[in-house]
Amino acid sequence: MSFKKKILITGGAGFIGSHLVRLFVNKYPEYQIVNLDALTYAGNLANLKDIENKSNYRFVKMDIVDANAISKLFEEEQFTDIIHLAAESHVDRSITNPTEFVMTNVIGTVNLLNAAKFIWRENMKAHRFYHVSTDEVYGSLGETGMFTETTAYDPHSPYSASKASSDHFVRAYYDTFGLQTVISNCSNNYGSYQFPEKLLPLFINNIKTYKPLPVYGKGENIRDWLWVEDHARAIDVIFHQAASGSTYNIGGHNEWTNIDLIKLLCKVMDKKLGRGKGESEKLITYVTDRAGHDLRYAIDSSKLQKDLGWTPSLQFEEGLEKTVDWYLENTEWLANVTSGDYQKYYEGQYAKR
Ligand code: NAD
Ligand code: DAU
Repeated sequence: MSFKKKILITGGAGFIGSHLVRLFVNKYPEYQIVNLDALTYAGNLANLKDIENKSNYRFVKMDIVDANAISKLFEEEQFTDIIHLAAESHVDRSITNPTEFVMTNVIGTVNLLNAAKFIWRENMKAHRFYHVSTDEVYGSLGETGMFTETTAYDPHSPYSASKASSDHFVRAYYDTFGLQTVISNCSNNYGSYQFPEKLLPLFINNIKTYKPLPVYGKGENIRDWLWVEDHARAIDVIFHQAASGSTYNIGGHNEWTNIDLIKLLCKVMDKKLGRGKGESEKLITYVTDRAGHDLRYAIDSSKLQKDLGWTPSLQFEEGLEKTVDWYLENTEWLANVTSGDYQKYYEGQYAKR
């Protein structure tokens, strides 16, 4: 069968990538979807069990830092478009090992840009390079205001600095070489298949197993939470409809201080686990703050809503319950990802706090 498009999705075995791959494979049988992922600690093919045998899906294990392998693959496969999500994504790990973030997030992105520029050189306009980025590139807000697409970049962590750098390279390839790029910057995602180093799955797992809940600082930092499937829907709309060279912010209009969010999670968990009122909250433990911890993120996604008609689909309370249910039901998935190296990571990260 010949496909209308052959889309490379990088990082498709990770949290957001697996939701995006699933959406595209199911929604667009006329596209061939090639998922390229190095399967780092965060990549897990079990996230894609339900679609792995579909005839329009294929997996390639490859490291985007390996420039030769990437150019060879691009020449062989002649992808029509790229949606790039592969990244080192956890802020705490970027504080422990910044160089790894430069390698994957900066060098890896430049390798993909070079390979795309080369294979599309005859007809740049016919192909799209979509770069998935984060609101963290904008830095930290005070008590008021929101990030718009024109907010100046001001990254504070090695993670956000590496993502900001990759965004700049993507824009530079649009301006300099005419590569048809699009960038979106999204707020905090939550939902199924998220690796339990990030706040929500980590705390769900700790509550379940009666482990302390390590709240950084005073728990006053604010994040804007978005259902991961709504992010995938936004990427779909932007990929198909946005003008080349454009940027879109994606967010949930759903700001929570960490401590309020954690208390709500504790209530939901008490209910789901049949525990007494207030039992899970007793696990809350204030620990040393994250270095360079951004105070507040909030996304103004009105451009996306106005231009392309996207809005979040789910109320947060409903999404949180669904998320808790998923982690409580998928015990084997959780057991597999929290065995082995995870224990070492956990001790390294939290014992010293
Ligand atoms: P994740 O850590 O769950 O997944 C990252 C994936 O990339 C993994 O499958 C991993 O194996 C793969 N990968 C890492 N290094 C690689 C390399 N060198 N070569 C090939 N594959 C590699 O991350 P996520 O939370 O799903 O984030 C996906 C993207 O979305 C990232 O670019 C991130 O910056 C961005 N983002 C994330 C959020 C969020 O809340 N999680 C919000 C906004 C933007
Ligand atoms: O805003 C988008 C970003 O959201 C993405 O670009 C990142 O890839 C993603 O990891 C996420 O970054 P955060 O640093 O906001 O997410 P994290 O889940 O690590 O932390 C959320 C908040 O909770 C943050 O203020 C730090 C705090 N926290 C986190 C952990 C892991 C704690 O208090 N204790 C913890 O143990």
